Amino acid sequence: MKNTSMHVVHVPATSANLGPGFDTLGMALDIYNSVVFCQSDTLTIELETSNPNIPLNSQNLIYIAAKRTADLLGRALPPLYLKQYDHIPMASGMGSSAACIVAGIYIADTLLNLWLSKKQILDIATQIEGHPDNVAPAIYGGLCLNQNNNGDILTLQIPVKGDIAVCIAHPSFSLSTKTARKVLPHEIPMHDAIYNLSCIGLFTSAFYTQDYSLLPYALQDKLHQPYRKHLIKGFDQIIKIAHSLGAYGTCISGAGPSMLSFIKESQLDFFAQNFSEALKEISGNWSVIPSKINKNGAIVEKFNSNN
Ligand code: HSE
Repeated sequence: MKNTSMHVVHVPATSANLGPGFDTLGMALDIYNSVVFCQSDTLTIELETSNPNIPLNSQNLIYIAAKRTADLLGRALPPLYLKQYDHIPMASGMGSSAACIVAGIYIADTLLNLWLSKKQILDIATQIEGHPDNVAPAIYGGLCLNQNNNGDILTLQIPVKGDIAVCIAHPSFSLSTKTARKVLPHEIPMHDAIYNLSCIGLFTSAFYTQDYSLLPYALQDKLHQPYRKHLIKGFDQIIKIAHSLGAYGTCISGAGPSMLSFIKESQLDFFAQNFSEALKEISGNWSVIPSKINKNGAIVEKFNSNN
């Protein structure tokens, strides 16, 4: 292996949609995937833990994103050495694909000295992912509202202040985004679109004013959840349990099957412990991941064994 300097890129998990914001809203969570990388003689991909679903060849999503970035910029991508440290569960609605795509773009950016801006990275990532709601917070961190203008993405970072955090319920079964998008209708009734517009207004107001008592109304949705809930066994029970423990509201995290509850940060430990206990009673082997809304997006740094 050529001994070029080693770097590591860290990319956070993300939760998209957040109730009414289908393909529009997303936020970063406190869990990261990391990829150690450098130039090599041949493409070599190693995993920290074995996962038979991750290709170790040119079909690897991190490599695909790096190659696509190089191609778009008219540059040749050298062979890569990649070592993946994955902590984001795959096909779980927590942005694992977005994390791979963003990591790949940063890897190409670093090795080819492209000096891409975050906005350029976002546009490339959206082109690969198909929608900006996960990739934007994976790049910028925080809570992002995105508008896709034919591939030219406008991202607004919504301020996150006050006593607010989230808790993810994550089942042992997975659900691919492809499957979860197939069940969506091509058209929706006008009154459902109007309803979601009101929810988005309430959602952004809740964060700008820190009046989180609006969230139970803001987290409603008629665009995707009604069509997807049957894919998530336990959907109604989880909403009820979270509500009984004091959550502001609960929605599907991304395309699912994970479910995300907004709660008071001051009650994070209490909520997570009791939620975890209560979820043992329902099928699906659910585990609980409490998280603050992570203000940091992806970062690249020189790798040393302390990273
Ligand atoms: N907005 C996307 C969806 C997120 O719900 O299908 C998953 O990639």
